[in-house]
Order: sequence, then structure tokens, then C-alpha cells
Amino acid sequence: MSGHGDAQPMKSRKSGPLKGVAAVPGDKSISHRSLIFGAMAVGETRISGLLEGQDVLDTAKAMRAFGATVTRHGEGAWTVNGVGVGGFREPADVIDCGNSGTGVRLIMGTMATTPITATFTGDASLRKRPMGRVTDPLSLFGTRAYGRQGGRLPMTIVGAANPVPVRYALPVASAQVKSAVLLAGLNAPGETVVIEKEPTRDHSERMLVGFGAKLSVERTGEGHVITLTGQPELRPQTVAVPRDPSSAAFPVCAALIVEGSDILVPGVSQNLTRNGLYLTLVEMGADIEFQNPREEGGEPVADLRVRFSGNMNGIEVPPERAPSMIDEYPILSVVAAFSTGKTVMRGVKELRVKESDRIDAMARGLEACGVRIEEDEDTLIVHGMGPGAVPGGGTCATHLDHRIAMSFLVAGMAAQKPVAVDDASPIGTSFPIFESLMNGLGADIRRE
Ligand code: S3P
Repeated sequence: MSGHGDAQPMKSRKSGPLKGVAAVPGDKSISHRSLIFGAMAVGETRISGLLEGQDVLDTAKAMRAFGATVTRHGEGAWTVNGVGVGGFREPADVIDCGNSGTGVRLIMGTMATTPITATFTGDASLRKRPMGRVTDPLSLFGTRAYGRQGGRLPMTIVGAANPVPVRYALPVASAQVKSAVLLAGLNAPGETVVIEKEPTRDHSERMLVGFGAKLSVERTGEGHVITLTGQPELRPQTVAVPRDPSSAAFPVCAALIVEGSDILVPGVSQNLTRNGLYLTLVEMGADIEFQNPREEGGEPVADLRVRFSGNMNGIEVPPERAPSMIDEYPILSVVAAFSTGKTVMRGVKELRVKESDRIDAMARGLEACGVRIEEDEDTLIVHGMGPGAVPGGGTCATHLDHRIAMSFLVAGMAAQKPVAVDDASPIGTSFPIFESLMNGLGADIRRE
């Protein structure tokens, strides 16, 4: 399931009770950052628990192209010998970031203040996604970008020879844009300031401090004001990548809707910038116990004991919660279909520019499974049918989007008739063991 090969149709049939332990792979956001920050440190960064999904493998390849030595020693065990801030060399060929918006946007930021030129491309999904949100602030440093219409890939970035630091208020709540600006600020003299009205995932800030950058975050009336002092020497780190809460969402939500289920999902991040789905599920009436709270890999985590929850009710998800659960709306909309009453998701237009237009992909697929949907540009409303009451039987288009594929395969586990997806190959970008992990818990997911 590489996400780069032929389409792989898959079908999910009604599952018996899910039982056992769901140990999901490493966090995708932290995995990308470990490789990129390691490449900018002087010396050897050691990483354990790295997600070996295609998105992260593409970032590893890119870091090699910019001059870092990136070595795999065993499952999830990698080292990066970095070239130092400003030490990137010009790549000899086009950088292909595959399906990964995080990969391409963070790497563009990282090279933007070094006087080299690089051309970026990606798969058909990534080539549709807007890059102007990153190249606009990068131009303030003196970086130039030449892409297709609408700021689309392929795109050539000419790094600034004499970068100036910038002060930038994010117009969209995006951790990718925030991170790209901070990474560019690393090689600009003086202080680069990023202001975000709504907090987004804070892995870049936490990890940059760990790697030795001078960075402070102040909460003001304007929002979070993040100040980074440029041109530090980054120190190599030992990074233990925690498990991915966005991947954990799939077995958790499957257990909530499959009758008789009782599973344990260890080490799920409780980072407030990532845990919006879990707050929402509890408000809907989900039976989730948060056991053994502790710290792992610098993140607060807990083990989640999750049982089938036949009494979940639809809710209105607070729009200000969107950044902390932005990747989880597709699977939430599946849980919503198996709940009673309607679930209203407002303030979610960012979903339209993810790996696919996720509002449209979920609306069409749920309709194909017999669920009533309402949508507008910024809203998705799912009319819940109650536990076990979703007819299923549809074939859902995944549009090169891993989370759409996984969401519909979870729906098939509890629907009355099987649910098919036209292409499950993108799952390999973020959760390569999805099929074996889910079947190990008791699912019946098969390649067609
Ligand atoms: C990510 C940020 C989010 C998220 C993506 C990972 C990151 O994107 O959807 O999967 O690692 O910074 P946006 O910044 O576009 O919201």
C-alpha cells in the first residue's frame, strides 16, 4: 500500500466484537519534523518509533537530496547526520514529496533562506493543493517561488541569499504554514515572529526548543505570539516518536460502533493541540477510559480503554475546536452516522484543501451508504441513524486520501451491508499496518 502504485480496491464486512490491543505506529507530524530538524542540526540525531509510511519516507529521501545522511538501522530506528542551519546543498533533481502536504511545505520553508534552488512536485493529490499559503510568507524573507496557476506544484523555490526576519500573522489556522515560517526564520538573522489566533499543533515549537533553538511563546490578546531567534546552532537530539493520535482514531472509533467491542489503545497523545476528537467523542457519550496518564517522547499520553457505545448522540462540534481535530472529521462523521440525532460540524472549510476535498468525499461516500448529509462550503452535517442502522452497501471514492479510505473501511465494520473503497493504496502514506492491525482486532477487511 504505497500510495504511489496501482489502485487497490478493498471491502470491509460486518465485524464481530473487536478485542485486543491496538498499537498504532508513530506520529506522522513528529516523524517528519524529526528528520527535518535532525537534518538542520550539527551531528547525529537518533530516532526511534519513526513512522515508516510513504509520506515520511519521501521526506527522508528529500533530506538526503539536500545533503543530510539519513540511515535506517531497523524498524523505526533511524539516524540523521545533519548539515547545520543554512547548510543545505542544492539538490541535483526534482524533490518528489508524494502525497505529503506537510513534507513539501515544511521542506520549502527549511530551504527558503539558503541561496539554493529546488523544484518540488508530488502526486496528483498534492499537485492540486495550494502552496501560496506558504510561498506568500516566504516571499517576505526574500524567497522567490515559481509554480503553476493558483500556486500549484510543480514549483521552483529560489532561496533568499540575504534573508530578512519577518513578522507574520497567520491568515489560516495551519501548523504547516506556521512551521514553514519558523523553519525559514532559523536561517534569517534576528527575530522571526509568527502570530496565530487559534492554536494549532505545537510540535515544531516544542521540538525546536529541544534541538536548542531560542523560541518563546506568549499568549496575548492577538493570540499566540511565537518568537524565534535566527541562526542558532541546533544540537542533535534523541527523539522517541510517540504513537499517532490521528491513526489511533480509527481503531478507537471502530470499537465505539462495533457491538460488543472492548479494546486497549496504548499511548494516545493528550496534547491539547491534538485531542479534539477525543473530547468530542466523550461529549457524544463514548465509553472511553483514559488510563495511566504519563509522558512519552515529550508528549502527554494515556492508554485508552474503549468499549462499544450504543448510546452516542450527535452534537454540535465547537468550531474553535477544529484545529485540534482537523484530520479527524472524516472518521468523526462515520461515528456520527452510527449515533442518534444530528452531528453538526461548522468552521471546517480547511477540509476542502486536504489530501482530497474531505467534505465532498465524506458526503458522497456516506450518501452511497444510505446516510443523509447536509453540507455547505464550511459545514458538514450528518444525520445519525443509530447503532447498527447504517445500510452500507456503497462503493466510496477515496481520491488518493488515506483518511477517507480508512474512514469508509471502518464504516463497513458496523454497517448492515459491506462497504467498498475504490482505492485503499493511499493508506500506506500514514498507517501501513492498518489492514493487519484492524483484522487482528476482529475486522474483516479484504483486498478485492
Ligand atoms: C500537519 C498540520 C495539519 C494536518 C496535517 C499535519 C502538520 O495541516 O492536517 O495532517 O504536521 O503540521 P494544516 O497545517 O494544513 O492544517
